[in-house]
Amino acid sequence: MVNKILSEDKKDDGIKLTKKDGAEIIKTLDKSEPLYKYASVEKEKVKVKLKLSEEKINKIKEICKLFDNEAGELINILHQTQHSLGYLPAEVQEVIAHALNVSSAHVYGVVTFYSYFTMIPKGRFPISVCTGTACYVRGAEKVLDEFKRQLGINMGETSVDGKFSLSCLRCVGACGLAPVVLVGEKVYGRVSPDGVKAILDAYKEV
Ligand code: FES
Repeated sequence: MVNKILSEDKKDDGIKLTKKDGAEIIKTLDKSEPLYKYASVEKEKVKVKLKLSEEKINKIKEICKLFDNEAGELINILHQTQHSLGYLPAEVQEVIAHALNVSSAHVYGVVTFYSYFTMIPKGRFPISVCTGTACYVRGAEKVLDEFKRQLGINMGETSVDGKFSLSCLRCVGACGLAPVVLVGEKVYGRVSPDGVKAILDAYKEV
């Protein structure tokens, strides 16, 4: 077994981790290291440790402090942290669990329960397909399937080049334009499966 430390400071990210790996990380936490600094996982016969930068650890602690390190504020803290860092990988959850004095399994349970939270980074252009009632009855599911097919990813995943990620949301208040798709802040209305390619093409050269 080869040991490897991935440090955010060194930007050594030769090994990509998936959502499933996140669950493994929680199971295989290396208790010998200072709590919340490292998490480990085995990937392709390499034992990987992820190390957050001090700056990021401090940022997370700051957010927890804003909510008085209250365990009851966990959801708000997760929201704020995801807003600030973009996603909530296992090592980030560890910092939060430590600051709030709750188990990392509890934090993991909340993160995985709410579809809003993500353990993997979103793409540069996050795609959200509205699956609210009006959009659903007008074919949102078929549109979603076409995005999945063209990008080769599932809901909650990010494309290999890091460009697009795919998620669903509930009614964005533009039901008259159903089915609605958001790419970042931009709203696309009356999207059909045939229109998916044109949307993706618009971001090809960006
Ligand atoms: S249901 Fe999609 S915008 Fe309202």
